[in-house]
Amino acid sequence: MADGGKPTTMRAVQYSGYGGGADALKFVEIPVPSVKKDSVLIRVEAASLNQADWRIQNGFMRPFHPKFPFVPVTDVSGEIIEVGSAVREFKVGDKVVSKLNFWRAGGLAEYVAAPESDTVSRPAGISAADAAGLPIAGLTALQAIQSTGTKLDGSDNGADVLITAASSGVGTYAVQLAKLGNHRVTATCGTRNLDLIASLGADEVLDYTSPEGATLTSSTGKNKYDFIVNISDKNKWSAFKPRLSDRGRVVDVSPNLSNFLASVMTLFSWRKRLSLVVLTLGKKDLGFLLELMRDGKLKTVVDSRHSFEKAAEAWARSMSGHATGKVIVEM
Ligand SMILES: NC(=O)c1ccc[n+]([C@@H]2O[C@H](COP(=O)([O-])OP(=O)(O)OC[C@H]3O[C@@H](n4cnc5c(N)ncnc54)[C@H](OP(=O)(O)O)[C@@H]3O)[C@@H](O)[C@H]2O)c1
Repeated sequence: MADGGKPTTMRAVQYSGYGGGADALKFVEIPVPSVKKDSVLIRVEAASLNQADWRIQNGFMRPFHPKFPFVPVTDVSGEIIEVGSAVREFKVGDKVVSKLNFWRAGGLAEYVAAPESDTVSRPAGISAADAAGLPIAGLTALQAIQSTGTKLDGSDNGADVLITAASSGVGTYAVQLAKLGNHRVTATCGTRNLDLIASLGADEVLDYTSPEGATLTSSTGKNKYDFIVNISDKNKWSAFKPRLSDRGRVVDVSPNLSNFLASVMTLFSWRKRLSLVVLTLGKKDLGFLLELMRDGKLKTVVDSRHSFEKAAEAWARSMSGHATGKVIVEM
């Protein structure tokens, strides 16, 4: 233990090569990160997993990323125990949420250093687990909904919106945000999650494992959508196109090859179009989501909570592709 109660070393989970899934995660004792002048040191209370975390392990960004050994996970919430000399917004003891830099990550550890510019105060009353769920999934959902022109400032008139994979981490936030935008929401999910997605506000829920769900056919006869927010990597442009209204648009956060090609082919189309969404939102938007959560307008659907010791179990759960909402690790 160093002076001031800050430990010199900490436990972290890391992997040292591509592949291997949960079995390749190892606990290590490594130095507590040092704080740069514009960053804060956070004692991590909770972290949430995203598909990107294990896709990177699988070599999605090979050979550029990551640099081994690598401590994964970008979404954390905890308490500040040290601030850099140039930090103005935070002080020791503040509860915060951070979206860590994708390239450096470091969230699956007892402590992490985060730039002030990627860190937001966590309002009282929001748990570390609920807050940790937000960064990547919540911001992706927000960006997808905003890219339909939804302002979320009370002025939205509402449109007919279809959201696929509504039970995913991104989807559970997207359904709630779409309803805050006054949209009439149809959502797809598996049989076991039909009631949950309806409880989040979806007006109609289609079971993607049923023939109607697979063809996105509504039982109400309403089969044209102004916007389709595609979160599943299975649904294709050929299935979406007949479901779009004349000027309808797909906003796609999980494009497969067919949809990627469609985004190129429809780039200049005035009529039916597919646009890709890549997360670019940041601190201000994360603050907005936390305000919605503080005001009881947005919640994190938690799939499962795992102790730090069971981080590998959490990793495997996320890799299963069958989480409902967010997979949380609590330190
Ligand atoms: N563009 C970006 O910047 C960005 C950022 C973040 C995430 N993403 C992408 O967004 C997607 C969702 O990520 P996530 O972390 O939220 O996923 P996740 O939580 O791991 O998603 C799992 C959920 O998706 C459901 N699901 C799978 N296939 C489905 C289908 N064909 N129809 C309906 N539901 C289906 C599963 O339901 P069942 O268990 O019932 O099968 C499960 O509940 C991923 O493809 C991810 O790569 C993109």
